[in-house]
Amino acid sequence: MRVVILSDPAAVAQFAADELVVRLRRRPAQVLGLATGGTPVELYQRIIQAHRRGDVSLSQVTTFNLDEYVGLAPEHPASYRSFMNAQLFDHVDVPRPNTHVPLGAASDLAAEACRYEGAIAQAGGIDWQLLGIGRDGHIAFNEPGSSLRSRTRVKTLTAQTRQDNARFFASLDDVPRSALTMGIGTILDARSILLMATGESKAAAIAACVEGPITASVPASALQWHAATTIVVDRAAAAQLHHAAYYLEAEAERQRLVPSP
Ligand code: F6R
Repeated sequence: MRVVILSDPAAVAQFAADELVVRLRRRPAQVLGLATGGTPVELYQRIIQAHRRGDVSLSQVTTFNLDEYVGLAPEHPASYRSFMNAQLFDHVDVPRPNTHVPLGAASDLAAEACRYEGAIAQAGGIDWQLLGIGRDGHIAFNEPGSSLRSRTRVKTLTAQTRQDNARFFASLDDVPRSALTMGIGTILDARSILLMATGESKAAAIAACVEGPITASVPASALQWHAATTIVVDRAAAAQLHHAAYYLEAEAERQRLVPSP
């Protein structure tokens, strides 16, 4: 695991944007796994700006989002499809048919989960997977107790996750109780992973993810099994890491040995 500790959320967003832009400039045809929620919004804004400056094109990109609420049609204003359109897809040159979000309103959710896994495989697998992290250690909507080998399926959201996401809905009652989500196994199949986290509310989850035992009780801890994962956090989200000084030193050494980009 590469752990990168930066000063603030803006620096975290810039780090992620630089990584994505460099990747896309090297190889414009890539399969990206994308996340929703508050954390990646600033990253998406920076990608839109880079696209407007002519620094990056997404015209050959294929995207797969992590998850969608069960029961919300794509056109629902709080759906993750609407979120992605508004926060990124409407403002860059990715062809809309290349963008994929699980259909949470499907009548047969098991068949939809299977179809989604098949579509990822048919696209050649995910080259770069972006993740956020829940306060309970979830990645995508793999809540505590999720099988570490799980594939795309329906998961019930915890009360804490519904509470955290109520800000995107008119009221807590409007937050769906379950989601169609990529599994932990699906995520671990990605060739490269970048997890972003900011703010003190994520500090305990980040410490458990990076330094705790690998356990289904902290789904993000499964990333310790992945050979190419970067965790990028601000100082507040890094506050409970025991080895923070070492990660800072290792990153400085890395910059000395392999100057970026
Ligand atoms: C989003 C997702 C979730 C979020 C997580 C953090 O597609 O799968 O795992 O990444 O809940 O959300 P924010 O960024 O809003 O704190």
